[in-house]
Amino acid sequence: MNVLGIETSCDETSAAVVRGGTEVRSNVVSSQIALHRDHGGVVPELAARAQLTAIIPVVEAALAEAKLELDEIDAIAVTRGPGLAGSLLVGANFAKALAYARSIPLVGVNHLEAHLYANWLVPPESESTQPEFPVLALLVSGGHTELMLMTGHGRYAHLGRTLDDAAGEAFDKGARLLGLGYPGGPAIQQAAIGGRTDAFALPRAWLGESNDFSFSGLKTALLREVEPYRLPDPEPEPQDDAPFRKHRPPRFAETLPVADLAASYQEAIVDVLAVKTARAAEALDIRQVVLAGGVAANRALRERLAGEVDLRAGAMLRVPALMYCTDNAAMVAAAGYFALRRGAQSGWELDVASRLPIGGSDS
Ligand code: KG4
Ligand code: ZN
Repeated sequence: MNVLGIETSCDETSAAVVRGGTEVRSNVVSSQIALHRDHGGVVPELAARAQLTAIIPVVEAALAEAKLELDEIDAIAVTRGPGLAGSLLVGANFAKALAYARSIPLVGVNHLEAHLYANWLVPPESESTQPEFPVLALLVSGGHTELMLMTGHGRYAHLGRTLDDAAGEAFDKGARLLGLGYPGGPAIQQAAIGGRTDAFALPRAWLGESNDFSFSGLKTALLREVEPYRLPDPEPEPQDDAPFRKHRPPRFAETLPVADLAASYQEAIVDVLAVKTARAAEALDIRQVVLAGGVAANRALRERLAGEVDLRAGAMLRVPALMYCTDNAAMVAAAGYFALRRGAQSGWELDVASRLPIGGSDS
């Protein structure tokens, strides 16, 4: 069964064809990074407009890359939330129209569930193995940080979540404080190279035995470290008539120890994520842990988490290939395939939801 996946929840437009829920036949991602960079983050109105112009060429490219015609597509899976409403609407309405025109099944997919299903994807020319339930899942994206137990396809138990900022948000805000730009995760990872992870004693919110997380105190601690190096802002330049404000990064004295700060900050995030996840794996006697979401692309997290779950729980860590960590439609097609297999199907009333919990009756 060939499923066409469509993902437009934020600032990436993506379409993919996945066969049997695992075999990626194509995965085309058009990113809007350049569009938002000057603003220091995603501008929702700009994102929705760019989705609109990208959606048709991206779907056409995904079909061409898969060497398939539209009549060889058996079903369509589309992200229905959580995400930016304007962006989500573009993908959802396009998917509805296409499924209607072709008389094929349509299924709305939860974006967070799709991130988890990135672990079922097998890149072209790779060996196929599947995660085995029960699986402990750490989902770390720009908007979410969740620790979940997955006992079967579509079956989730929530163990913990962030009480404030998501892990990706912590990376993004930290990068902004350091003047490193957007998106922050890759920028901090890059800046941390050669830096000492123990140069600054930044706080870790362990929260006792709880499986919840908290990252807002860390961000405040970083702010305190950089403040002494901060140079006064120059006179504001007149903003051109663009309707959206440009972001002006902070300026620092050259002595700002960027590499040490980035390395210590990254380590503080990774430390808490890895140790708490490994502790939960140990307590639940779990053999298989999966990592998912944009922050799963972080090299330090991949390495540290693999080490901790092995050491504390004797468990194996499974991570998606890098290209399936950040937003993409292959993961949506995979989640959609397994949802269709258990009888899920959306009607024409399929609607988007900017907030959408995973695993609820509404997912
Ligand atoms: O899953 P994703 O692409 O979008 C959401 O669903 O939010 O995640 C984006 C997040 C951003 O916060 C970005 O900074 C972070 O993932 N990210 C990373 C890395 N690559 C992306 N964080 C740390 N290290 C990375 N290499
Ligand atoms: Zn995402």
